[in-house]
Amino acid sequence: MNPAGLNISGAADDADDVDSTFSEDESSSASLADEVEDYRIIKNRRYHSINEFTGETKYWGCNDDKQNMVQEWTHEMFLCILSGELHLAPLSDNAEKVLDIGTGIGCWAIDFADKHKNAVVIGTDISPIQPQWVPPNLKFCIQNISHWNFSNNDIDFVHCRLLNGCIPDWYTYFQKVYGSLKPGGWFESHEISPHIRSDNDSVLGNSAMSRWGSLFVDGGKILGQPFDIVEQGVQKEAMEAAGFINIREEVYKIPIGGWQANKDLQSIGTLMKNALETDLEGTMLFMAVMLGWSDAQRDTFAKELRHELQSNDLHGYFYGKIVSGQKQVTP
Ligand SMILES: C[S@@+](CC[C@H](N)C(=O)[O-])C[C@H]1O[C@@H](n2cnc3c(N)ncnc32)[C@H](O)[C@@H]1O
Repeated sequence: MNPAGLNISGAADDADDVDSTFSEDESSSASLADEVEDYRIIKNRRYHSINEFTGETKYWGCNDDKQNMVQEWTHEMFLCILSGELHLAPLSDNAEKVLDIGTGIGCWAIDFADKHKNAVVIGTDISPIQPQWVPPNLKFCIQNISHWNFSNNDIDFVHCRLLNGCIPDWYTYFQKVYGSLKPGGWFESHEISPHIRSDNDSVLGNSAMSRWGSLFVDGGKILGQPFDIVEQGVQKEAMEAAGFINIREEVYKIPIGGWQANKDLQSIGTLMKNALETDLEGTMLFMAVMLGWSDAQRDTFAKELRHELQSNDLHGYFYGKIVSGQKQVTP
């Protein structure tokens, strides 16, 4: 059993290790904590460690305070997009076990646990960046998605958001989610394409906005963790391949900046712009370094993008896609 009471099948030792990572009482906790906090530093920014829980996975985002603040902005933005809701999947009120995969600083998991006090919620991530004071029905554990070891037929709802560029094989991942869900349980995957588009040609081919998406898609190819899954329709296809039914796909636009006339879209756009401006250097650093960009190239690009973000004439937007599906009741 892990701390949240979810059954983790397979290696009991591994589950115990996850427990002890968060337990002050365990004699081994100091060394495990050291291991997960043995961060890598790239160009003065902090990245997750490579240890027995993370494996060799390489996540492209920093895990320092500046980058983590971006998650606070995006969480607010998603709340606005969903009119205050946390998901689209039609969950029953009596969900008992809920997983948030790649939880980050845990904003979604905390809100969900607060709203569903009878549910046990667990958030997994490769970085121990979650707050300590959280609702009592929420626990976090350090776990790589690729080391999936949750039991079959055990979970009511699995949620994941913004895992673009984190997963080598979405089809295998969705199959594992399917196996761990209870019959009738729900899965929701929420992603944003990295490409910035415009409907009025204001975002032109040589602008920093229009090059932003390629930076991630090209980097994702080298990393072996694709970034174009929204364009490729991977979420729906992988859900269908895994056997999910009642699949629902919602595609929507996220304006960048307050250029929309509609007040709600203005708020969403402003939150998106804040998220980008908070740490665009940190958001792009790993990919740019991997693609061999010099310090000067990175600086110039970031300055151009910051400048473009100030312009109300550039009507850029991202595409977002929320796909939910249900595990069949009978096999
Ligand atoms: C962009 S953040 C999104 C955080 C959160 N889901 C949200 O919507 O605010 C992606 C998160 O996925 C985590 N992550 C990346 N690769 C992972 C992996 N292989 N296994 C588990 N978590 C991973 C990162 O550490 C990071 O916290």
